Amino acid sequence: MLDLPIRPRRLRRTAAIRSMVAETFLRSEDLIQPLFVVEGDHAPEAVDSMPGVFRYNISDLVCECRELGKLGIPAVAIFPSIDNSLKDDTATEALNPESLILKTVRAIKAEVPDLVVITDVALDPYTTHGHDGLLSDDGAVILNDESVEVLAKMAVLQAEAGVDLVAPSDMMDGRVGEIREALDDHGHINTGILAYSAKFASAFYGPFRDAVGSASAAGTHHLDKRTYQLDPGNRKEAIRETELDEAEGADILMVKPAGPYLDILRDIRGNSTLPIAAYQVSGEYAQIHAAAEKGWLDLERCRDESLLAIKRAGADMILTYFAKEVAQSLKY
Ligand code: PBG
Repeated sequence: MLDLPIRPRRLRRTAAIRSMVAETFLRSEDLIQPLFVVEGDHAPEAVDSMPGVFRYNISDLVCECRELGKLGIPAVAIFPSIDNSLKDDTATEALNPESLILKTVRAIKAEVPDLVVITDVALDPYTTHGHDGLLSDDGAVILNDESVEVLAKMAVLQAEAGVDLVAPSDMMDGRVGEIREALDDHGHINTGILAYSAKFASAFYGPFRDAVGSASAAGTHHLDKRTYQLDPGNRKEAIRETELDEAEGADILMVKPAGPYLDILRDIRGNSTLPIAAYQVSGEYAQIHAAAEKGWLDLERCRDESLLAIKRAGADMILTYFAKEVAQSLKY
């Protein structure tokens, strides 16, 4: 026998002992369900690259919200999939007071008022080119300040519709400050800002772009957002972005994607006292599903492990397409 006074395996010997020393837990309250909405009254449309994810019409989406609330999920993040005929170069539809997203928010707030509703502030669902901001006349540059002006107006419309948290996901400079000011000027002092602060120019957004049609709008799957989203190799710059958003008045900071960026999540957790959100994006979801479909990975165990790891790294809340099924598995 080895002369080993210290044997860490003592604390892993039985399920009961393991449960006593467990450090990280997933709760339904940690989860935010992203949902896609479409105009019309047809049955939910499946998103091919995201098994189990659908585009809902408004009334089906409201039913879904009610179920999520019953499962203990506190919040939903809603994304509109807009008909191509409503898209243009300048994202006109983004400021339509009767737009799909605003009608959806009002419907949810009328029926499930306690559910926290989060909406994206970015122009990509509304632009023919699929970018999050406005383009210069020659199409070469995504304009910063002009885009921020539209984004601030968009945020005010969302607040008026009853959104609890607006979530600027556009990565334009100075947008959090401008949005805060616009919200306050319009009396929306209690509408919070969940800032997509460290949002990387990631290839893992592919399935999402299929779901909202921003990839097909651009006519390519490789919509290049590198002049505003972060370089995947840049950690210091990610921290700087979160510091700026915090200084400009963000209430919650976000890291996105989540799984491939756990180090960033950890750093930001240590660098701020604000709550930190992480977005397990469409491609992270799709890859677990794809491997499971092939029989190569166990779907539920990989799902739970991926989320636990994001929490362990420092996330206080996680946007994930797995939210509903995880909440179900925690409850039953
Ligand atoms: C757009 C936006 C994107 C996502 C959320 N908001 C995609 C993008 O930046 O192109 C991605 C979410 C996901 O992949 O699940 N502003």
